[in-house]
Amino acid sequence: MQKSDVYILAIESSCDDTSCAVLKNTIVLSNETAGQEIHARYGGVVPELASRDHEKNIVPVVDAALKKAQISLTDINAIAVTSGPGLMGSLLVGLSFAKSLSLSLNIPLIEVNHMQGHILAHFLSNDGIQNQAPPFPFLCLTVSGGHTQLIKVSDHLEFEILGQTIDDAVGEAFDKAAKILGLPYPGGPLIDKLAKEGDHTKFKFAKPNVQALNFSFSGIKTSFLYFIQNNVQKNEKFVEENLKDICASYQHHLIAVLLKNVKKCIAETGTRHLAIAGGVSANSELRNEVKKLEEELSITTYIPPFEYCTDNAAMIGITAYYKFQKGYFSSLSISPQVKVGV
Ligand code: KG4
Ligand code: ZN
Repeated sequence: MQKSDVYILAIESSCDDTSCAVLKNTIVLSNETAGQEIHARYGGVVPELASRDHEKNIVPVVDAALKKAQISLTDINAIAVTSGPGLMGSLLVGLSFAKSLSLSLNIPLIEVNHMQGHILAHFLSNDGIQNQAPPFPFLCLTVSGGHTQLIKVSDHLEFEILGQTIDDAVGEAFDKAAKILGLPYPGGPLIDKLAKEGDHTKFKFAKPNVQALNFSFSGIKTSFLYFIQNNVQKNEKFVEENLKDICASYQHHLIAVLLKNVKKCIAETGTRHLAIAGGVSANSELRNEVKKLEEELSITTYIPPFEYCTDNAAMIGITAYYKFQKGYFSSLSISPQVKVGV
């Protein structure tokens, strides 16, 4: 252990995953996550049930992360925690736990913005192997269950929103469609899987009409609902008989909407480096289509490893690492920020 090394214990509990990571500088020593199956049957996250499960999971998850990292609490230099955006009750569990650790160990507390975390996941390294991190400035398409944004990243902690959804997030458009199809939550990964064997040219959906570099998914969601209702009225086995083609067509449509603005943004800003981040960046079609832009637009693209796409504490740890370098520490009186920009 070198004196200049920084060890950070990070906690993420903004939605329905309880996660704890231990980082040595930018290297992930452990990243343990407990998901919550309970929400599957409700078609979405039930906030009250989520906070109760965080309460149950947080001690075992922190314990597992410390064990895996083979490190004791006394070696940790700072505690990082997600302070928002997210669900109030869920954020409160992580924040209260992190504050207690910081107070009892007498080490700094560092609050982290969840969406910044998703973007900075690109700078994580495993076993000393650094992923190919994007150089500054780069453009990041940040796509999750609550966000859809185009962000110019000028430095580790410098972000500018160039475009964003004016209503629902693309992850929500995946999850709500899955619910309409009778699939469990979260629907994104299931639609992705079913779409692989479907024909994406079979069905068409509404195209949003939005200004500048902004997105809109609410109309697409509604057109999907009417499309299913109308077809089921004519044939009650419509979903069953066409499930894979419906998933393939709908997913293809969502990805096309995302890529249209990405291309427009690249043309307008002249950026040569494009990254994707957030839960929906785990989508196989999005990953393939973004990769194809390398040749089409002569740019370099950066796609995070699967484990760092969906919610995880390692991304909170890396963001805190850059804040630690600048001495950006938080007071123990901070409270959760349910809605907050990057
Ligand atoms: O970043 P994340 O784990 O949590 C939030 O911050 O919201 O993103 C969760 C979202 C959900 O909407 C989920 O359905 C979606 O990411 N997602 C996917 C895939 N994996 C996760 N969407 C499409 N394809 C996937 N493979
Ligand atoms: Zn997230």
